[in-house]
Amino acid sequence: MNTLDLTPNRFVAGIEPLPKELHDKIERRERLLGASYRLMYHTPIEAVRGQGCTLIDNAGRTYLDFYNNVTSLGHCHPEVVSAIQRQVETLATNTRYLSETALDFAEKLLGEFHADLDRIMFTCTGSEANDLAMRIAFKHTGATGVIVSEHSYHGTTHLISSCSPNLGAAVQRYSHLETVPVPQTALGFEQSVAQALARFESRKIKPAALLIDTAFTSDGVFPGMPGMLDAGIDLFRSQGGLYIADEVQPGFARTGDTMWGFARHFSVPDLVTLGKPMGNGYPIAALVSRRELLDAFGSSARYFNTFGGNNVAIAAADAVLRVIREHELLARCSTAGTKLRSAIEAAVSPDWPQTELRQQGLMAALEFIPTQDGLNERLFANRVVNAMRHRGVLISTTGKLDNCLKIRPPLIISDTEIEKFADALNISVRDCLNDRSQNDG
Ligand SMILES: Cc1ncc(COP(=O)(O)O)c(C=O)c1O
Repeated sequence: MNTLDLTPNRFVAGIEPLPKELHDKIERRERLLGASYRLMYHTPIEAVRGQGCTLIDNAGRTYLDFYNNVTSLGHCHPEVVSAIQRQVETLATNTRYLSETALDFAEKLLGEFHADLDRIMFTCTGSEANDLAMRIAFKHTGATGVIVSEHSYHGTTHLISSCSPNLGAAVQRYSHLETVPVPQTALGFEQSVAQALARFESRKIKPAALLIDTAFTSDGVFPGMPGMLDAGIDLFRSQGGLYIADEVQPGFARTGDTMWGFARHFSVPDLVTLGKPMGNGYPIAALVSRRELLDAFGSSARYFNTFGGNNVAIAAADAVLRVIREHELLARCSTAGTKLRSAIEAAVSPDWPQTELRQQGLMAALEFIPTQDGLNERLFANRVVNAMRHRGVLISTTGKLDNCLKIRPPLIISDTEIEKFADALNISVRDCLNDRSQNDG
């Protein structure tokens, strides 16, 4: 086994031969941007244009984009583009000025939530929204204990990165953090939360926030059964903590049945964070909560985010929400999700390694079930992702062992494109199995 390509879906020099021009561009990028950034795929893509479900590279080659859940309406959606264009030609300023458009949008977006969630604050990124949610939770509870899922990712700020186990052992953990495994059952989740609370108690820590990506996306996509989170959330709240639903991945119709992932359960969150698809590529994110939480926070702390909620961001987000509603993309996501499930099931063949498919709307993971330590399956998933890239279909990997294919096409994906994806999956896995048997032989 080549240990070099055991890394998650990222470029590692030397795995695939690269044309000199590409090699030089990668070197230049490293020289200028430093070591923190990762490129995807063993032969990275220089994307120069996006259109609908397609990315186009510098050589004019097209790729079916089954990965990007930011441009959830498709790349460069014309209604979002013209809303941004009109606004940027008119005014681009900040929340220190009155803007009726921002208020109209706030009203519309809050209309998508339970009536108790009646306040919204704008940020530029999901990380900022989560960071703000934690500040509010700490202030409201006077406590410091935070629970997240075992392999979750919540963002980049100092606090939030330390509450993102997905970043690995090299990133220092927040000292008052406890993790829970991805729940399989309601009882299992309740028990894990009870155990985490007991660990807090033994350390004399009081619970402040249960921060949950409601689709457990970075844990490997585990949407679970509706209602599965409620008992654990109730238990956490009974000890004074707040429930923060991180909707940066599942929000804005991605899961098909409901606009928000948390709405698949009964518990109404205390705080909800939004981001990624909110502006279909334009940076806008938000925090939604109840008036008493935000009023108490706001009366003692000023919050000004220079670009958060600027006029152009609001115009983009307003267009996104309108397109989702007018084009009935929630319902479309649900039917397309069913189509995606059956297409993947049909592509999976009995001679493949054992798989498990988890899918909710247009968010799916196909896991290659680990046999021993999962390294072979991780390597295999990585190879399939790269083989698909060469066949012109973009996906990535996810999960604690990185042994799951992560599949998230735009909400506007057509049945024909889903079939193309499934064909590429079938052929790519077959090619990888053939390569594996040749190498073993
Ligand atoms: C669940 C979740 N929360 C928060 C974030 C952070 O959002 P951003 O990159 O906009 O800061 C991400 C980003 O991938 C995410 O997946």
